[in-house]
Amino acid sequence: MTAGRFITFEGIDGSGKSTQARLLSAYLKSKDVDVVLTREPGGSPGAEEIRRLLVEGAPDRWSGETEILLFTAARRDHLERTIRPALDRGAVVISDRFADSTRVYQGAARGDLRDIVDRLHKAVIGLEPDLTFVIDMDPATALSRGLARQSGEDRFEDMGQGFQERLRIGFHELVADNPGRCHLIDGHRNPDAIAHDVALILEMSS
Ligand code: ADP
Ligand code: TYD
Repeated sequence: MTAGRFITFEGIDGSGKSTQARLLSAYLKSKDVDVVLTREPGGSPGAEEIRRLLVEGAPDRWSGETEILLFTAARRDHLERTIRPALDRGAVVISDRFADSTRVYQGAARGDLRDIVDRLHKAVIGLEPDLTFVIDMDPATALSRGLARQSGEDRFEDMGQGFQERLRIGFHELVADNPGRCHLIDGHRNPDAIAHDVALILEMSS
């Protein structure tokens, strides 16, 4: 049984997801809502360890298939230790990325691996968000924003702008395939204007 609400933010690297996840969390907390703000890959101690294997190093460090296994292992730990307990006590869980990222990054943009992604998701994850905001952003702008952070976590950014263009198309297809759950949000505006749209959609869907 899931009592709480599960909200995710998705989009290409540097599109403004983390900023919007933080703003939504602060907005809900200001209304005394029990909120858990988390992220993928990561969100639990074990999954944060797996994160480092995935976001650092050379782009060809892992194949697409190995990435699916690593992201899914991290997600299972995140689900068991952070997401499920929070939903069971009735909290709103906001995750900066979740399974849609695997569908788009590994399932579509890195190669045609969607069948493996879907089978593994069904076998060991099973949970879908109640609501997903996909922040849409021009890849060149997003890439320059992301790389400017110099986070040392640029393995996917280092796959280049062509990869980011394929991701953007993949996220548009995701929204078209899931019209009830996924909302495409124009990310080429100031953070407060975007946050306003997000809050409005959340209120309309409550
Ligand atoms: P993501 O989580 O999608 O990688 P972030 O929220 O970390 O994106 O944002 C990437 C960079 O862009 C950060 O330096 C952030 O301050 C900046 N940023 C986020 N949203 C906006 C916006 N709407 N307009 C301009 N810059 C932004
Ligand atoms: P994140 O820290 O959200 O990156 P960014 O802030 O640049 O958007 O995620 C790390 C990277 O992992 C990001 O490039 C996307 C990638 N990723 C996948 O390829 N598959 C997945 O399932 C997830 C959750 C992330």
